[in-house]
Amino acid sequence: MDLREEIEKLKREKNAVILAHNYQRGEVQDIADFVGDSLELARKATRIDAELIVFAGVDFMAETAAILNPDKKVLIPSRLATCEMARYLTPEIMDEYRRKYPKGAVVLYVNSTAACKAKADITCTSANAVKVVNSLDAEVILFGPDANLAAYVARHTNKRIIPMPPNGHCYVHTNLGVENIRRDGVLMVHPECSTELQEIADVIASTGGMVKFAAQSSAKRFVVATERDMVYRLKRDFPDKEFVPAWPMAICLGMKQITLENVYRSLKEEIHEIRVPEEIAEKARRAIQRMLEVS
Ligand code: 13P
Ligand code: SF4
Repeated sequence: MDLREEIEKLKREKNAVILAHNYQRGEVQDIADFVGDSLELARKATRIDAELIVFAGVDFMAETAAILNPDKKVLIPSRLATCEMARYLTPEIMDEYRRKYPKGAVVLYVNSTAACKAKADITCTSANAVKVVNSLDAEVILFGPDANLAAYVARHTNKRIIPMPPNGHCYVHTNLGVENIRRDGVLMVHPECSTELQEIADVIASTGGMVKFAAQSSAKRFVVATERDMVYRLKRDFPDKEFVPAWPMAICLGMKQITLENVYRSLKEEIHEIRVPEEIAEKARRAIQRMLEVS
């Protein structure tokens, strides 16, 4: 059986679309209808005509699509496709910070659970974090769960940024150390990386920002400091340029749970459906929509 053909057939039969994040395996990016960063995917999810969305990404991304599309069926091909960073924050931790900083506004990175988003004033992604923070009246911003992105934002705003919690991070990006990466090209660094790595970057950008940077740059060779398969996306878009992973072991295990086989099964059996309880979804939707309006 040719899985690609079968997937295409099922997509047509079921009026389904496949959305995929830039970190997906190459073969999964190839069968997707749209590939993008988390902001682009959230935006795309609001403009979809299809009845069925198969989300090739990690849990919080599929949850965001489901929250924005209460009338559609959103599927994730594997329940093991999770984002480790989201575990650093809970609604209880957020309550503690709110009590401690009653005048603070809560800006929540989308790499978080729906229950946390429901308690946020607004969400953000790495593509719009500075813009979102600067759009708020509050001078004190409680920012979570990524402390590296919080530090990046703090360097680009006059507001006081309090990381919530102080140690939230992504293992894929923090394992990209200054000492273990290659540097033989224009160095593109994701803001989830350590401040030390950001300091030697030629450009700091979200995964979508990296695509835009490569499009307008005259450089021919780029070193990509983020998840390894970002290079696949860049090579596909710019076959005349050279892209190499900064460190080939930068692999997001959650993202790699999605395969052609489970995408096929997901479409065929309509599994695994993402369901967010409406009382949480309603509040989280407000925070996500506010972000989409600002950026
Ligand atoms: P982007 O929004 O830049 O695609 O990042 C998402 C992510 O999970 C990075 O680890
Ligand atoms: Fe989460 Fe890190 Fe994977 Fe991004 S790369 S989805 S932050 S675990």
